[in-house]
Amino acid sequence: MLKTVICGIEFKNPVFLAAGVMGETGSALKRIAKNGAGAVCTKSVGLERKEGHKNPTIVEVEGGFLNAMGLPNPGVDEYVEEIERVRNDLKRMNVRIIGSIYGKDEREFAIVAEKIEPYVDMIELNISCPHAGGGYGATIGQNPDLSYKVVESVKDAVKIPVFAKLTPNVTDIKVIAKAVVEAGADGITAINTLGPGMVIDIEARKPILSNKFGGMSGKAIKPIAVKIVYDLYETVDVPIIGVGGITTGKDALEFIMAGASAVQVGTGVYYRGYDIFRKICEEMEVFLKEKNVKLKDLVGCAHD
Ligand code: DHB
Repeated sequence: MLKTVICGIEFKNPVFLAAGVMGETGSALKRIAKNGAGAVCTKSVGLERKEGHKNPTIVEVEGGFLNAMGLPNPGVDEYVEEIERVRNDLKRMNVRIIGSIYGKDEREFAIVAEKIEPYVDMIELNISCPHAGGGYGATIGQNPDLSYKVVESVKDAVKIPVFAKLTPNVTDIKVIAKAVVEAGADGITAINTLGPGMVIDIEARKPILSNKFGGMSGKAIKPIAVKIVYDLYETVDVPIIGVGGITTGKDALEFIMAGASAVQVGTGVYYRGYDIFRKICEEMEVFLKEKNVKLKDLVGCAHD
């Protein structure tokens, strides 16, 4: 009932694990797969090992979380071994793998993409971490020319579908979306975290996060994400994966009606547990049965 085809790839359902959440090891990916996700997205992986920031890296706020992990990862060569360990199990469960990657420029992105390609079904470009600095993350995704270069270079390097994950922290996301699609992106994932934001511990008289500020996720950012997906659907002609504060089947359906072909869940795992993927699928199915409609007929149906 929820089977979805995106860029020629068949997903058993359109509810995926978002990048950066629970994707640090192969066994974590497998755990999410067992809990009903249609696909799992890895932690963002770079060329070299990166330790990430010191604790605290995450703080709960009203309506969500702020996090600044610092893109911790073991480097692509070691990470692909993690995927390799669980790849057959995921295949047996019919769960696809999306490789989230980052880099400091188009050359680095292309190298990482080439290295991860044999292990994943799709690549997602993290050009949107809001606090990465140093030329990484949103430094790229806030600039249409740099975004274009990264997508073009990765598209030259690999054959599997490439999605660009966009940041909401721009004046006009449509400009960035047009640039990545012109460069050959097969789809867009929207949105990455909002902000960055800051929480100050008034006893300690300093910011709580060791990085001082971080990206906001969770329920509070959902209306912003829905609006962006709605706008992107009218701007570009590629599939959109919606992400931002999804915790229920109703949330997922809002994104689908705005124009998303699939959704990703990140912070929702903290709110509803690992089996949130199965729960969201069940809730979507109840709606589809009740209304006697097919999921694909709802994609973008909120537009006039
Ligand atoms: C991190 C990366 C992100 O893309 C994001 O949205 C939030 C945090 C990180 O690893 O710090």
